[in-house]
Amino acid sequence: MDRRVGVVTGAGGNIGRATAELLGREGFGVLCVDSNQATVDATVAAIRAAGGLAEGFAADVTDEAQVYAYAAKCNELWGCANFFFNNAGVEGAKAPLASYPTDAWDKVIAVNLRGVFLGLKAMLPLLRHADAARVVNTASVAGIIGTPMLAAYGASKHAVVGLTMTAAIEFAPMDIAVNAICPGPVESDMMRRIEEGVAPGAAAAAHDQYEQNIPATRYAKLEEVAELAVYLLTKSPMYMTGQAVAIDGAMTAK
Ligand SMILES: NC(=O)c1ccc[n+]([C@@H]2O[C@H](COP(=O)([O-])OP(=O)(O)OC[C@H]3O[C@@H](n4cnc5c(N)ncnc54)[C@H](O)[C@@H]3O)[C@@H](O)[C@H]2O)c1
Repeated sequence: MDRRVGVVTGAGGNIGRATAELLGREGFGVLCVDSNQATVDATVAAIRAAGGLAEGFAADVTDEAQVYAYAAKCNELWGCANFFFNNAGVEGAKAPLASYPTDAWDKVIAVNLRGVFLGLKAMLPLLRHADAARVVNTASVAGIIGTPMLAAYGASKHAVVGLTMTAAIEFAPMDIAVNAICPGPVESDMMRRIEEGVAPGAAAAAHDQYEQNIPATRYAKLEEVAELAVYLLTKSPMYMTGQAVAIDGAMTAK
């Protein structure tokens, strides 16, 4: 088929939706995947309302059968995937490492790491069916530097960067580029939850403190992260692969 197509996970959330909508506006077909049926439906409706091509699929990325089911849905719809935005993630508990709940650790690793791993495995045959396919895994600046109060999140995102490098090496001979994006704090629901979690009742002060740590003196806008993701999913040179690309207002350049 002429139209380039692919999958976005976490498509019901802030970054996933902004990216899926931008892909839709640019003429790409998007299979929107999220565990939240209502929000994935909203993303699909928004893309279609703007004249784009989108389908929705509810799946939990920690469940192997459900991951293979969204890949099968993409296969049924289009028979290949030109891009795969492996983006679903959770921030999890906010607590010092010494008292970080072990069940919360397991949950974060399951979504952010197992989910990304399973997605890479399940989508590979579809990516191989496309010419010059591209994968973007969503890591974070928490995959580059330490993140107090978010031990599992930081560990999972460092692991996503490592997994991205392994996938890039193994997939390069198949003409598939694999990169990670590492956003700093983004104006988003997730950052609102983190601010409230690290400073209960003083979220605004936490926001200011995070901003003071960013040379650009502000959080990223959702559109900025979506723009980078769409570039790496559809336009970047195929020789650019295995990279963890920060979009962080120079936060990690310091
Ligand atoms: N918001 C930020 O500041 C920020 C910064 C750096 C990285 N990130 C990363 O960006 C990605 C998207 O985050 P966001 O800000 O859009 O958060 P969000 O909470 O708005 O969206 C995350 C989406 O993932 C979905 N999801 C969660 N668990 C799932 C599961 N088991 N199966 C399927 N879907 C599941 C949620 O339903 C939600 O729609 C995440 O990987 C996050 O870690 C976010």
